[in-house]
Amino acid sequence: MTTQQICRLDELPEYGGKELELNGKAYFAVRFGQDVYAYRNYCPHLGLPLNLMPEQFLDYDKRYIQCSSHGALFKVETGLCVAGPCQGKSLQPLATEIIEGTVFIISPTLVNNSDT
Ligand code: FES
Repeated sequence: MTTQQICRLDELPEYGGKELELNGKAYFAVRFGQDVYAYRNYCPHLGLPLNLMPEQFLDYDKRYIQCSSHGALFKVETGLCVAGPCQGKSLQPLATEIIEGTVFIISPTLVNNSDT
């Protein structure tokens, strides 16, 4: 299994995000409590990046990942869109792992990217 270190957990603020580039594609990671979730930065509505502001991926209430373009809301834990123009579709996930306070992601070559 191929993993890549992205940062220390304590470098990610609670509910904070981090933009990533892997194999020429944009991804992001968000911290949610003591967990970190990562997805491709690609909205299933129009294929636009989810964020307009650097490192900001969550909605005002810090409950959902929000697309800045048309407001779609995605569950942080699963990437499922629960409201907005792409309801029922999902973000493309990356597996994450936290080992001794360091956040790793599974290589995107192991993830099914059906739109590429
Ligand atoms: S591009 Fe994300 S909701 Fe429209």
